[in-house]
Amino acid sequence: MKKSNYFSLDFINGKFVFLDQTKLPLSEIYIETESYKQIAEAIEKLEVRGAPLIGICAAYALALSLKDIPKKYSEKAFYKAVERLARTRPTAVNLFWAIDEMKKVFEANKNSDNIYKVLLNRAKEIHADDIEKCRKIGENGLRIFKHKSTILTHCNTGKLATGGDGTAFNVIKTGFEKGLVEFVYADETRPLLQGLRLTSFELKKNGIPFKIQSDSSAATLMQKSKIDFVVVGADRIALNGDTANKIGTYNLAVSANYHNIPFYVAAPSTTIDKKTIKGDDIKIEFRNKNELTTMNDQKIAPDDYDVYSPAFDVTPAYLITGIITEKDVYFFPYNFINE
Ligand code: MRU
Repeated sequence: MKKSNYFSLDFINGKFVFLDQTKLPLSEIYIETESYKQIAEAIEKLEVRGAPLIGICAAYALALSLKDIPKKYSEKAFYKAVERLARTRPTAVNLFWAIDEMKKVFEANKNSDNIYKVLLNRAKEIHADDIEKCRKIGENGLRIFKHKSTILTHCNTGKLATGGDGTAFNVIKTGFEKGLVEFVYADETRPLLQGLRLTSFELKKNGIPFKIQSDSSAATLMQKSKIDFVVVGADRIALNGDTANKIGTYNLAVSANYHNIPFYVAAPSTTIDKKTIKGDDIKIEFRNKNELTTMNDQKIAPDDYDVYSPAFDVTPAYLITGIITEKDVYFFPYNFINE
């Protein structure tokens, strides 16, 4: 399937359809499936990625796990799928939030003759809610612009990472539409190059002027006073505001702090983990060595040493100027216990 305007995922004619992000930006390939196992694999391989998006994927996958399953087998089938999806990626809390939502719906309706339809409706609702949350994040984000700004961002937080128009990306996009964005610098985001491959794709599609830079250029750029503020997404926010996001985010926060540049996080409230008090409690995913030692399936380093490859880091709350959600813009010190 090919569409002139891109989308990250959809549910069309009984099938889950997603854009394979590992092929971007060179090919726009959409994959159709009815298999929850294929969706779980797609999450693991980062064919679909970004915290809110993988939550939505898990919700659709759990609905599909009961498609054409006789009622007497549904409980076993559902919890097998829950277990499979829960071990795809550990850090983004949106995945576990969506699984919990689907569990609640399953438990309340497990005797229904049409549990598949009930679960599918909840998955569609989660998807629609995320679209609305993204819109509101964009709108709330307008409050952080003091004037026409040059912005630095990291990883990918746009349509490709969410159900809607993005989190940090939608702060930029909404600002741009209001004439408030001068220029965007996007980190390439080693090792999987979400910035170079995906954020560039989305900035281009939206006509926003930008440059991609190596991650290691960020501090120099700040030193040259070119950045008005930094805005990034989040995979999990602890109750005290400590934030896990793509590896390299912490480096940016330290540099921004040193150069007196405001550093913002944008995320839906589903990224705030009510069970996590502080950043140290967040489980960080470590990725396969090959992702660092190969490029385009070509080996670029020998095999005889190990690598250190966390997928995420944790930025302490005191380095974060503000956290933008669909509800509000919060400022340090944070306490999300009643949010
Ligand atoms: O490993 P990824 O590509 O899934 O990591 C994504 C990020 O770190 C994003 O910044 C985060 O999920 C927020 S997406 C709106």
